[in-house]
Amino acid sequence: MLCERVGEKMNRMKKTRLIVANWKMNPVTFTEAKKIVEATKRAASRARGVSVVVCPPAIYLAALRKGSRAMAFGVQDIGAHEAGAFTGEISAEMARNSGATVAIVGHSERRRLGESNAVVAKKVAAALAAKLTPILCIGENIRDAGGDYLSVVRAQIMEGLAEVSTPLVPKVIIAYEPVWAIGKKAGDAILPADLHEMSIFIKKVIAERIDRAKALNVTILYGGSVEPENAHALLTSGDVDGFLVGHTSLDTTEFPLVIKAAAS
Ligand code: 13P
Repeated sequence: MLCERVGEKMNRMKKTRLIVANWKMNPVTFTEAKKIVEATKRAASRARGVSVVVCPPAIYLAALRKGSRAMAFGVQDIGAHEAGAFTGEISAEMARNSGATVAIVGHSERRRLGESNAVVAKKVAAALAAKLTPILCIGENIRDAGGDYLSVVRAQIMEGLAEVSTPLVPKVIIAYEPVWAIGKKAGDAILPADLHEMSIFIKKVIAERIDRAKALNVTILYGGSVEPENAHALLTSGDVDGFLVGHTSLDTTEFPLVIKAAAS
């Protein structure tokens, strides 16, 4: 119940920062997963003005959720269909029934396996239909001097939102994760000024779909080598509402520091 409320609160309260942990295909044992979630829980319950969402491998979700009321949980992907002969897939409704309130969709590591904007659009719609908050991941592979990366990002937004009705667009969280910045060190992440520029661009593109005031209010996360060293500057000067954190979210010392940096 509380987790559901946290999920709903994320879209309603602009002042709440949002830190989402994407554990990817880690850790190998449930015992380790439990340790990480306990450290995250302690940090989440101390941090004011921050909502924390953990997206573990789906197989751990239901068990990890027990007793973890200080945060919400999500999944790293969902199938595009409701049910049926889709071996290995997990539907949005299954994720919801296991306690997820958010679903990461269109992560670059899934796009690399061949997921198109059209499939991502179906997953965004499937998440919303199951009352999950979709986190739509976008981001260019490389930055070119000519600015072509902006058209890549624009297409990912417009095509990713293609199956979402206008009133539901503000419910979608956008996670800007430039692929060139993923899985490195803080020094390789985007610069706060460049992130600020991208955040404005994203809102401008969304304003082509919805009312400008609502577009300005859409939740935007940044992901790509977020570490305690760069968290504060990216949040304050980058004009984003929070982070989608990969490797640092598995570190029981460093992730609490990222959560703390986001606290008011
Ligand atoms: P890193 O934080 O490891 O760069 O990963 C970012 C990411 O892909 C989160 O979804």
